[in-house]
Amino acid sequence: QVPMTGGPSSLTFPELRHQLAQRDAVAEGYEIQVLLRWGDAVLPDAPAFDPAAQTPAAQAMQFGYNNDFIDFQPLPQGSRSADRGLLVVNHEYSNAELMFPGLGAGSAARNRTTAEQVKVEMMAHGLSVVEIARTDGRWAAVADSRFNRRITGETPMRVSGPAAGHDWLKTSADPTGTRVLGTLNNCAGGNTPWGTILTTEENFNYYFSGAAAKTGPQAEAYRRYGIVERAMFPWGRFETRFDLDKEPNEPNRFGWIVEFDPYDPQSQPVKRTALGRFKHEGCTHVVNPDGRVVLYSGDDERFDYVYKFVTARPWNPNDRAANRDLLDDGTLFVARFADDGKVQWLPLTHGEGPLTPANGFPSQAEVMINARRAADLLGATPMDRPEDVETNPVTGRTYVILTNNGNRREDQVSPVNPRARNAHGHIIEIVPPAPNGRPDHAATEARWEVFLLAGRPGQDAGARYHRATSDQGWLSCPDNCAFDAKGRIWISTDGAPGAAGVADGLYAADTQGPGRALTRLFYQAPTGAEVCGPCFTPDDTTIFLAIQHPAEDRGSSFDRPSTRWPDFQDAMPPRPSVIAIVKRGEGTIGE
Ligand code: FEO
Ligand code: CA
Ligand code: CA
Ligand code: CA
Repeated sequence: QVPMTGGPSSLTFPELRHQLAQRDAVAEGYEIQVLLRWGDAVLPDAPAFDPAAQTPAAQAMQFGYNNDFIDFQPLPQGSRSADRGLLVVNHEYSNAELMFPGLGAGSAARNRTTAEQVKVEMMAHGLSVVEIARTDGRWAAVADSRFNRRITGETPMRVSGPAAGHDWLKTSADPTGTRVLGTLNNCAGGNTPWGTILTTEENFNYYFSGAAAKTGPQAEAYRRYGIVERAMFPWGRFETRFDLDKEPNEPNRFGWIVEFDPYDPQSQPVKRTALGRFKHEGCTHVVNPDGRVVLYSGDDERFDYVYKFVTARPWNPNDRAANRDLLDDGTLFVARFADDGKVQWLPLTHGEGPLTPANGFPSQAEVMINARRAADLLGATPMDRPEDVETNPVTGRTYVILTNNGNRREDQVSPVNPRARNAHGHIIEIVPPAPNGRPDHAATEARWEVFLLAGRPGQDAGARYHRATSDQGWLSCPDNCAFDAKGRIWISTDGAPGAAGVADGLYAADTQGPGRALTRLFYQAPTGAEVCGPCFTPDDTTIFLAIQHPAEDRGSSFDRPSTRWPDFQDAMPPRPSVIAIVKRGEGTIGE
């Protein structure tokens, strides 16, 4: 620990020292509780985790791999309970080299998996819903809860909205184009005011292989989404729906926002196509003064865009069921960030501007399926990899986390993406107009400002924070964020080891007042891991973090991992896990 450094911050914890280590660490005065690990039982009949002999059936009942998004939904539903609730967790992807013995290190391990191991990986994707409760200051899963649920790469889902039933969504297994098996690569997420979950499909292109990616009728559209002949996950060897030469439309059934009700374990998840198809990172909501719901989402790719969806109708706070299909009707917008500080929100509406039949958009369905191309034609602003887009509940400003973009050239720099070869990323704020002091997130214009430019102050060109930021307080590669009730931002990072030689972590800063953008290191991840899903209980006495892909380091494998976090037992591989951080002796996180 270093002594708390100076500066006018409202945060009272002594900041950590940057480091790389096998173990994780949190600021003095706080305690880490490991809550849910890969392989822990979710469903009542789940067998004990046996990493040397994992099976698809076992994995389908156990906590999945690579936890990312976390949401805490209070129990009972509609309450503000901070001691009992449903923890909803995304399982973004799988690391075969760390999950199975004998495959060796690196991504090449994925080419050596058996059919059964691929099935385990499919069961390790998706989500977990787990009831958790706090007793005497300790969080634990409720083993026999009727709410506990696993959603996997094979769970049946319905498709709704403008693209449902479109020819491009039809497959041999589903001639209706309305029934899909599974959700994949679920990264960040969000929820709705009526207590449903929005889980997002991000890098869906990683799963589809075949020459049709280069030569088929959809080759150009697939290229725009990064679908290539040899996918990162070669599942098509065993599962024909991931082989484009056999099932050319399956990729059009992924890349959506999926809504489901965590309070009803029988409920069927729904892919909401009105929110567009792209590599969704997150989907966070604000209720507008007129009651309409605004959902922000980033498209995480170098030079891709920031979107928002505005529902056509207000939500109904008095009748939960009345909101069931609210997300099927509304307008998707994409952002243009002008050099003079203005934001323009451009509608992805069929028949408006260039979105015409002559340009390949005969109806709204094609606009949603090929949302990236529609946004290209509208002149959206190419950004430095938009990750979380989330609104500060105190100020009403919306934060856009831009993780990095090593490919931006000098001649592509502009005020909103001001650095070439942007290795460390930055964070901008969208300031909506606020007539009568109430931010109007449905408006088609706003302003933008820079919150911070990441990197090492004084070392990395253009790094910009509060001038009192210490040599431990700077960050690199911001990814997710959360806000506490005081409106302070908590920023988690993904990629700092490669970009800056320090572990990924969780940083906190004031967003207004004299401590604005004075970031401070609160939590440091174990080696190889990124930090995801920061999520507070409603009373801010606990912050949940998803520690994803521990030991994802060069040369690291199941048999020789770079860390065995969090168990540190010889026979136990590293395990992606959700942790709860609480204050020793209780109290508010960050004070
Ligand atoms: Fe899965 Fe955009 O990080
Ligand atoms: Ca991730
Ligand atoms: Ca992410
Ligand atoms: Ca990321």
